[in-house]
Amino acid sequence: MSEVIIRPARPTDAPVLAALDILAGGGVYEFIYDDRPGEPGAAQLMLQAVLSADTALSWNRVLIAELDGNPAGAVTNQPYDAQPPSGLEASVPADRAAHVAPIQAMGRPGSWFINMLAVGAMASGHGIGRGLIEAVADKARGEGFAELSLRVFADNAPAIGLYRKTGFETVASVEIPHHPRLPREGGVLLMVREL
Ligand SMILES: CC(C)(COP(=O)(O)OP(=O)(O)OC[C@H]1O[C@@H](n2cnc3c(N)ncnc32)[C@H](O)[C@@H]1OP(=O)(O)O)[C@@H](O)C(=O)NCCC(=O)NCCS
Repeated sequence: MSEVIIRPARPTDAPVLAALDILAGGGVYEFIYDDRPGEPGAAQLMLQAVLSADTALSWNRVLIAELDGNPAGAVTNQPYDAQPPSGLEASVPADRAAHVAPIQAMGRPGSWFINMLAVGAMASGHGIGRGLIEAVADKARGEGFAELSLRVFADNAPAIGLYRKTGFETVASVEIPHHPRLPREGGVLLMVREL
């Protein structure tokens, strides 16, 4: 029988975490950071951001779900209003920055924010995503917060299914124009759950 445990992440989890961050981004990190001649790409920048102790995507803001002793999923979470820089700042073409700026501008002040949630494909569908969300809910409640918030692409049906099932509702949305390097449809939703 498979056993799932949820634990704080460690620096040695960084390579797995970076891959899960890229997966959860749904193409947005590749859109912003890849294909810049002479500059580091999304995977390299993400690994640096996760390894640092001082970034919003740091390993030290992550809960890991282990399935039979192996990292299978993760969630990066922290107060929305107290996030340090992402650690991904780099010179990006102005049109790319402008394209994603509406996503980054949409947030829920006062909430506990889920920056990233992902479960590896092999472990998906076994309640790990739900378990990670409930672990974050317990943590945020313990810290005195009354709301969880997150952003999700409107065409990410599995994630939205999970969020609805765990009590999130859409409170805002933003349109993102179609772009051949970021072929998502329907924009991005801001979802909130009361604790
Ligand atoms: C979205 C994701 C985190 C779900 O994790 P998971 O561990 O597979 O989800 P769970 O097994 O805990 O599922 C819990 C609920 O989510 C919903 N759900 C999960 N997968 C779904 C799917 N493919 N379609 C519709 N709903 C789905 C269901 O309501 C499910 O409840 P049920 O089992 O009672 O039907 C996972 O698919 C994933 O990592 N996807 C890629 C990365 C990503 O998109 N992250 C979110 C970015 S915002």
